Amino acid sequence: MSLASVVRAEEKLMLPTYDRHKILFDRGRGVYLRDSHGRRHLDFLSGIGVNALGHGHPAIQATVKHQAGRLIHVSNLFFHEYQAELAARLTRISGLDRSFFCNSGTEAWEGALKLARAYARAQNSNGRKPKWRILALANSFHGRTFGSLATTGQAKYRDPFAPLLPGVSFVAFNDLEDLQRQFDGSVCAIGMETIQGEGGIRPVSQEFLRLARKLTASTGALLILDEIQCGLGRTGRHFAYQHYGIRPDIVTVAKPLAAGLPLGAILTTERVARAIHPGMHGTTFGGGPLTCAVAIQFLRLMERLLPHVRKAGSYFRSQLEKLKASHPCVCEVRGMGLMLGMELDSSELANSVVNRLMERGILINRTNETVLRFLPPYIVQKKHIDQVIKELNAALSSLCSIPSCGKRQKSIARSQA
Ligand SMILES: Cc1ncc(COP(=O)(O)O)c(C=O)c1O
Repeated sequence: MSLASVVRAEEKLMLPTYDRHKILFDRGRGVYLRDSHGRRHLDFLSGIGVNALGHGHPAIQATVKHQAGRLIHVSNLFFHEYQAELAARLTRISGLDRSFFCNSGTEAWEGALKLARAYARAQNSNGRKPKWRILALANSFHGRTFGSLATTGQAKYRDPFAPLLPGVSFVAFNDLEDLQRQFDGSVCAIGMETIQGEGGIRPVSQEFLRLARKLTASTGALLILDEIQCGLGRTGRHFAYQHYGIRPDIVTVAKPLAAGLPLGAILTTERVARAIHPGMHGTTFGGGPLTCAVAIQFLRLMERLLPHVRKAGSYFRSQLEKLKASHPCVCEVRGMGLMLGMELDSSELANSVVNRLMERGILINRTNETVLRFLPPYIVQKKHIDQVIKELNAALSSLCSIPSCGKRQKSIARSQA
């Protein structure tokens, strides 16, 4: 099928949820994708943080082939051999005790919210009113299902579907005073992305995360971290919260976990897990033998790549910082490891740069209007980073106009206040 015929058919047959770029991909190898015209694209987006090992990794291919030939699905009514092993690996690297497997990021986050409510209820079986409020962050993104939307602090995702789950309040990003002011004994959980992804690659501050940990610990509320985009090696450590020296009560992961197959997980402590009993939560597909076998293989490979992610990430960041120094339209470079963002001074410019890079065979995207997002696979090499920097430099040189970063930064501060 040609690109034109696929576009025509989709326009007629699909729900119009996506505004896709007009490229038809049909194969991938390493850091490259190939389109239907045989053109090569350097993939610095990894399917939005999913293909962390790049495309066509031989060990992943071998595991998929082997396991697909043996057993793909049994449901959670029965045992198979991989859930326990995967749970053992995830709990070991996270410092948590128990796992639950599902199919996607939003489903992991939904489950985490349910767990927080169930835990609060279990703590108050003596007749006191359970804690029930949830504090989430302005500018956050947790997914598209109702609970996730209710905790997503961006009107454009929420408003078309209101009313949403009650009991959620939003705290201004990294605002210690606002967090302190909104937290009280009715809060059952504070939930946040350790690094906001869709919100423009914004790491929470050390002080903010520590305060959230301190407040929740003081009342028996839970700290839930969404590491669906920033976890599992993306920042050069197993989890982004490990850069902060704290341990949350619940963590959600998904994107890279099964190297492109759909798998998410909730990780939590023994204490919280005691609030869940058979029948309270579940899934038909989640944690099947195929996805779990692949996830075990992914975690083995990820382990060896962590030092490389740190080194490649710090080199990439230093090169982006150099571009910032020479292009006044670059407002800020943010992120950790291989989760990096470059904020430009207008959404039009960011859009033009993404399109210019795409014309030059480099895939990145724009998030939060003005931010170029880079999520290359963990196997990326210096030469790939150099190529992106060269093309980015050329694009900024020809597209940057009058700098207005100051204006843009002030308007963000105002909208978050
Ligand atoms: C931080 C974060 N949480 C949750 C989600 C939702 O994940 P999914 O699209 O797999 O439902 C995403 C997806 O981009 C995400 O970045």
